[in-house]
Amino acid sequence: MRNPGVFRVALIGILCCEHAGGSGGVRESHPCTVHHSRRSESIGEDECFLTDEDHHLWCFGDSYRLWSHNGSIDLKTLTICNWLHPSIDLQDILSKFPKIKKLIIANSNLTTLSKPFPSDAKHLEKIHITGTQLQGVPRDAFKHLSGLKILDVRNNALTEIDPAALVAPKLQHILLAGNPWKCEDKTMTWILNMTHGSVARKIGDRDKLHCAHPYEERPLLPVVEIIATLREECSRTVCECELVYVVGRVGKQTQRNLIAFVSTNCSHRGLREMPEFIPANTTTLWLDGNQITDLSPLITNPVYRQVLDLYLDNNGIASINQLEGSVWFDNFRVLSLRGNKLTDLPTYAFENVLLKSGNAVSLYLGDNPWTCDCLFTPGFQDLLIRYTKLVKDVNEIRCHSVKNLENLDKPIRDLTRTEICIIESETSWLHPLDVLNVFLASMIIFILGKLVYDYWSFKRTGKLPWLVAKIP
Ligand SMILES: *[C@@H]1O[C@H](CO)[C@@H](O)[C@H](O)[C@H]1NC(C)=O
Ligand SMILES: *[C@@H]1O[C@H](CO)[C@@H](O)[C@H](O)[C@H]1NC(C)=O
Ligand SMILES: *[C@@H]1O[C@H](CO)[C@@H](O)[C@H](O)[C@H]1NC(C)=O
Ligand SMILES: *[C@@H]1O[C@H](CO)[C@@H](O)[C@H](O)[C@H]1NC(C)=O
Ligand SMILES: *[C@@H]1O[C@H](CO)[C@@H](O)[C@H](O)[C@H]1NC(C)=O
Repeated sequence: MRNPGVFRVALIGILCCEHAGGSGGVRESHPCTVHHSRRSESIGEDECFLTDEDHHLWCFGDSYRLWSHNGSIDLKTLTICNWLHPSIDLQDILSKFPKIKKLIIANSNLTTLSKPFPSDAKHLEKIHITGTQLQGVPRDAFKHLSGLKILDVRNNALTEIDPAALVAPKLQHILLAGNPWKCEDKTMTWILNMTHGSVARKIGDRDKLHCAHPYEERPLLPVVEIIATLREECSRTVCECELVYVVGRVGKQTQRNLIAFVSTNCSHRGLREMPEFIPANTTTLWLDGNQITDLSPLITNPVYRQVLDLYLDNNGIASINQLEGSVWFDNFRVLSLRGNKLTDLPTYAFENVLLKSGNAVSLYLGDNPWTCDCLFTPGFQDLLIRYTKLVKDVNEIRCHSVKNLENLDKPIRDLTRTEICIIESETSWLHPLDVLNVFLASMIIFILGKLVYDYWSFKRTGKLPWLVAKIP
């Protein structure tokens, strides 16, 4: 820790340029780069430097404590760099430098301001805490600073901030960019309140704020706006809603170019019908465990247009024939119909959709009372075999109502054609048509035999057959 001061200054100077480029916009020099234009005098164990005609003191680490020229120099600015501890005693600093107008804490390991700024720092006008690990600001942190005008807390580790913490009598300009903001309901919605005198109006870089996980690097304002709208829309339903992710359209992430993916959960709500309203931008809809029988809203109600993943497990759906040919059916990604009352489905329509649409990724059809007969099952089985990767629960798709009892509860995919069809025809071989066939075949054999006999008899005896002899 006792490096020569000059070496450290050079090193920090190199770091600066990367940093200034990253913060975007105006090129500022890094707050820890000492511009010693006049002299490079160092004071106090080689760790503090005076510059700008002795108005600016730069201290590295905790060397400010060793500064001994109390009051004898008219300091205006104090910069503390490379502070290695997680907290800092503001009271101590400000009692030592009671007249400073500007305090800069930069490039430090600071994580918390344990106490608010003391009220006796009446001259303090600007506070810059940048490039630290600062995670939170206490409520009322700046409230007692009667002279504070500018607050810059960019490039820290702030995830959320209470607007009450950003209040001071004269505070007009606040900078918050470069922090990993948590874009969640409640924590950041205050930033949308642009009424006169609100804290949000004082944020100079509102448009430059970005979200952290789970909306990595998306611009904060539109995301918070989407979340606030979603909350309002969700309160009009019986469901729970969540913004799952947001993507930028073609790389652009401006307000209008974000696409929202919302998951709406209306499971186990005792619904008898599909809801009339769900939040716009719902892409995943859970409707498990209700008593829904009718899927026609998917076709008629435009709120379902954007639903890509639909979970309808354990309802009372007996038929999905009406979906055939609808726009929704052509575009879905996931359709889950486990545990319903389906006995058959429009195989041909499914085949058509799965063949054409590149969207479908999962289909769940298990635990339904499927019919196994020679009419429906062969085509259905073909479908299951051809799209085995898509039909995720193919082993749960079993025969429920069967003519051949041996097939009961067997997975339809694994049945052989004989099991489905031939056995069935064996049991009914006395079908009237079969009887007629046998009769006609034996007639043909009889007539041919008679012809051969007559020919042979004519050759041998010259007698015409009895029938020919009778014809005049
Ligand atoms: C500087 O202030 C400290 C207390 O903050 C005091 O102990 C010390 O004697 C003062 N030094 C001078 C030179 O005034
Ligand atoms: C402070 O941060 C530096 C680099 O970021 C790290 O090497 C050092 O261990 C940290 N010190 C403490 C006390 O956390
Ligand atoms: C917006 O901010 C103003 C001023 O701070 C406040 O009075 C008002 O209640 C806020 N409105 C909402 C909707 O939060
Ligand atoms: C949400 O849905 C509405 C209505 O369909 C649409 O206009 C809007 O662009 C969507 N917003 C996002 C962020 O996807
Ligand atoms: C939906 O909500 C129900 C109960 O409200 C819960 O049990 C279920 O886990 C939720 N499903 C999802 C996918 O979040």
